[in-house]
Amino acid sequence: MAADQQDYRGAFDEAAADFNALGNHLWNPIGTAVTTVASPTPGERVLDACCGTGASAIPAAHEVGPDGLVDAVDLSAPMVDVLRRLATDLPQLRPHNADVTTWEPADYDLVQCALGIFFFPDMTAGTEHLISRARPGGRVVLTIWRGDTIMAPGRHLARAVSAVTGVEKEAPRPPQQVDRIGQADTYAAWLTERGLADVEVTVNELRLTMTNEVAWLLVLGSGFRHALTDLSADQVAEVRERYVASLREDGLSEVDATTLIGSGTR
Ligand SMILES: C[S@@+](CC[C@H](N)C(=O)[O-])C[C@H]1O[C@@H](n2cnc3c(N)ncnc32)[C@H](O)[C@@H]1O
Repeated sequence: MAADQQDYRGAFDEAAADFNALGNHLWNPIGTAVTTVASPTPGERVLDACCGTGASAIPAAHEVGPDGLVDAVDLSAPMVDVLRRLATDLPQLRPHNADVTTWEPADYDLVQCALGIFFFPDMTAGTEHLISRARPGGRVVLTIWRGDTIMAPGRHLARAVSAVTGVEKEAPRPPQQVDRIGQADTYAAWLTERGLADVEVTVNELRLTMTNEVAWLLVLGSGFRHALTDLSADQVAEVRERYVASLREDGLSEVDATTLIGSGTR
């Protein structure tokens, strides 16, 4: 596993409970929009890749009903544990703790992944693997952020962590694949290159109101949490204060959390 992937895995493990709390503001509205585009129908077999605590897997399980199946796969065991607790009344939803880039079962009617493919060490190869899990003619629905506006709070957080720890924040990461395809047209072209037919990209507009509570949940309940690794409780409290003050100084009362829901058939 690449170092970056290991880092984020730890962050998601620790974030599981807060991730679920952030869900009402962020993950669940996006998961509902993904399900609307993906339109699972009764009896279908679905793979929900990078399922987290089930923002898209749970609505999909409701749609496929008791005769269907949703294999929900996540690398983080604590995330899968939360989902298992949330889905006790949905026997058709099967949570699995596994790396979906090497997931073997195939022939799904629908493969969906909300906000996960850019965590794969090789985003292109991982995405092609997901597509290969759909049956020929099956639907594939993959969601990414539009642009990088959702990253803005992370920059305030990094500055707050540097101020508290005295350690200069890391250099900005070099551009990655996802940075080159963050608009509807570039994303559609990239999905088509991966072998999907009839690709459409739905722009799902969403703005996250950054109350102090939500702003901090966005840190605790997402991959941003990685920045708090190894900090003491006192340091975390100080980071919170500086981070929230920094957002206010910059007038960041809202974050653009718009997603691109790409869909096509295999
Ligand atoms: C931003 S969260 C999104 C979770 C969920 N799809 C949602 O929309 O709420 C990304 C998730 O991808 C998972 N993940 C990252 N790489 C993965 C991999 N190779 N296999 C399975 N899960 C992975 C993380 O553990 C994390 O739960």
